[in-house]
This record gives sequence, C-alpha cells and structure tokens, in this order.
Amino acid sequence: MLIAGNWKMHKGAHEARAFAARLRHLPDRATDVDIVVCPPFVALEAALQGLGSESRVQVYAQNVHWELEGAFTGEVSAPMLLELGVKGTIVGHSERRQFFGETDGSVARRAEAALEAGLVVIACVGETEAEREAGETEAVLGRQVPVLPEHERLVIAYEPVWAIGTGKTASPELAQQAHAFVKSLHPSRVLYGGSVNPENAASLVAQPDVDGALVGGASLDPTAFDAICLAAAKTVA
Ligand code: 13P
Repeated sequence: MLIAGNWKMHKGAHEARAFAARLRHLPDRATDVDIVVCPPFVALEAALQGLGSESRVQVYAQNVHWELEGAFTGEVSAPMLLELGVKGTIVGHSERRQFFGETDGSVARRAEAALEAGLVVIACVGETEAEREAGETEAVLGRQVPVLPEHERLVIAYEPVWAIGTGKTASPELAQQAHAFVKSLHPSRVLYGGSVNPENAASLVAQPDVDGALVGGASLDPTAFDAICLAAAKTVA
C-alpha cells in the first residue's frame, strides 16, 4: 500500500522542512503503508532535512527529464534527484499534459530514463470529463498505459481528470473498474488519485485493484494526510 502526497506548486523550502518534520514518525503508526511526499524541486532538500535520516517517509519529485544533463533550460535530471536523496518521481501528471505539452511519448521517455537511473516512477494516466462522457475512457487508457515501460519500480496512478481538485471523487466501484482495466494492460501497481480525503480514502483503497492513493489537496494539510495514511493502514491490517 502506497500513499503519496503530490504538493504540486505549494510549499517552499521553509514550510516543507517544518511539514516533513511533523510527518517523520508517521510510518510507525501507519504500518505497512509506504508514505511518500512530492514537494516542488526547490523544496526537495528541505523536506529531506525535515524528515531526517531515520524516517521511512520517502521524498519524490514531481517530474524529471529524460537526459542526464544538457541544454534543457528549466529541467532537472534523475542523477540530480538521486544525489539529493530523492527516491522517485511522478511523471505525466494531467496538469503537465494539459498545460505543458506533455505527450504519451514524452511521458514514456521520462519514465524510462528515471527507471534506468534507479528512481521509482509514478506515471499518471486518466481521462477527461469529456472523454468519459463520450465513452472513451478505455480508449484513452488504452493509449496512455501500454507505452509505459514494464518495470518493478513503475507504479501507475489512475487519476481521472474530472476528479482532480474538484471534490468529485470517483466512486469506489468506478475506480475499481478502471484499475482492473489498467491492470489488464500493464502488470504494475495502480494508485487512485482525484479528490482523495480522510473520509473517502478507506473505501477507495479497500478495492482489490486499488494499491494506494496519490493525494493532492488533502496532502497539504498534516492532519488530513495523517488521517489518510492511518485509514489506509487499517485496510491492510
Ligand atoms: P486532488 O487530490 O487535489 O484532487 O489532486 C489529485 C492529484 O492530482 C494528485 O496528483
């Protein structure tokens, strides 16, 4: 069971350090849950410092480039992340696909390079509201998922775009159905993302093909994130 908090463009270094210090001992209470936070690039080191060397909470980035170094203004490479102590990265978040021109091809390249370098990769997939209404969910997933490399360190996050930041969570049944479909295309673990909160987390992660959650808004609040991790721990116990 993996619970990852995607902080998106929230929390600078100062806030990240303090927040991470509060989370440091959470894995002792949420046993059997792998807990991850994904701060912005500039706050990665501060989050690691706040957690200290003993904590089992891991720090992932929100994106990574496919080259090791070079003339790629604004990008960060996998070796740079590993040097800091970052253990993984998100790739292909729908916000990157929607606002920054990310494509299935570029997502696959980022994922491949990060896996090869030794990072865990959370690759995001999911349909928009218009695609779901047009009955295209499986076609979209059928395009986004098979291009992802098969690797033991690859994790897929099913994040229906209409459920992100909207409060419109997928029902546990709908999430289960989509996850089962993703798993029919790819052998990796699948997290659910989209308006996960302390109230709905348990019923979502209790579904047989839901292997954890990628949490946005609710991961910014220490009490809510704590509650989500504890709810997840109860479903594994
Ligand atoms: P919310 O939990 O804020 O809906 O965001 C989900 C998400 O995009 C996580 O990557």
